[in-house]
Amino acid sequence: MNKIIVTGGAGYIGSHTLVELSRNGFSPIVVDNLCNTSIQNIKGAEKIIGNKIPFYKIDCTNESEFKKVFETEKNVKGVIHFAAFKSVEESVREPEKYFKNNIGSLEVLLKLMNDNGLNNIIFSSSCTVYGSPDVLPVNESAPFKKAESPYGESKQLCEELLNKSDINSVSLRYFNPIGSHESGLIGDYSADKANNLVPIITETAIGKREQITVFGDDYNTPDGTCLRDYIHVVDLANAHVKALNHVLQNKSKSVFNIGTGKGVSVLEAIRIFEEVNELQINFKIGPRRAGDVEQIYSDNTLSTNELNWQAKIPLENAMKSAWKWELKKSY
Ligand code: UD1
Repeated sequence: MNKIIVTGGAGYIGSHTLVELSRNGFSPIVVDNLCNTSIQNIKGAEKIIGNKIPFYKIDCTNESEFKKVFETEKNVKGVIHFAAFKSVEESVREPEKYFKNNIGSLEVLLKLMNDNGLNNIIFSSSCTVYGSPDVLPVNESAPFKKAESPYGESKQLCEELLNKSDINSVSLRYFNPIGSHESGLIGDYSADKANNLVPIITETAIGKREQITVFGDDYNTPDGTCLRDYIHVVDLANAHVKALNHVLQNKSKSVFNIGTGKGVSVLEAIRIFEEVNELQINFKIGPRRAGDVEQIYSDNTLSTNELNWQAKIPLENAMKSAWKWELKKSY
């Protein structure tokens, strides 16, 4: 059995990864304290794969509790570490919470891995580590710029921790994950107030918000609005399987961008959502949002060549599934 511990496996990206792991011959074991998601994501993943998934309701910063998982589960091959707080806005208000939890949980995990001779970890990083990059598309050799938020800084510090550790690792720098599994059985249950573009579009479409404000149309981009690289969460989940195979074979340390390679503007994203779902979104142009990067999209050369991974699912499908999830979640 290819047992893999998945911290934060009940979350948005984690639950999608459970499904991809199972489809590819791995047996995920979830460690999650459910502080910002729902048990429904584990039940949904079990329904999709037709199998039970072992689940430990544990906070990863609690070493004595977390240790029990390593004592109980023998022959684990590796760990995927998703468990973290993820609200940029909250991190600005409560930076200590982010440093304590996001860094603290990785420290505990690395110690337990060392104690138990477990050598392979995949870490959830973010393109936010690049800040505002000088060269586009951005590749993995671009330097870390000053982080835009404590959340971003926590990701930079975690990557540095992994670099210093003796454990083999892959850090995946996600671009902007969107969409949901086509079944509608798993998705984003987090209680964070939506701050990201696509959840705000769907909340506007369903009437939870009156209007969406486009943050600035005077950027140096084709239509004046910011460019981002929106990646379907199922493609992103699949990258974790590739990363796991990579670390198990190569026993090395590496970092990969996980994006589509395509920059999409805010106005394009709204238009595509409207077209595929046959809806009209009420939007207005507003001022720029503080801390926003004008444009960022991924150079995928490394993940294509070394992980043999590429994003496959079109943006249109992601926008359809995002709407399906909003409908499911709201009724
Ligand atoms: C944000 C975080 C990033 C995190 C990512 C997770 C910041 C600075 N960065 O990225 O660290 O990894 O979320 O998904 O917060 N937009 C609007 N109106 C809205 C909301 C967003 O115009 O109501 C625009 C933004 O200006 C931006 C684009 O939509 O150009 C995407 O925004 P968002 O979804 O918040 O993601 P990022 O800012 O790229």
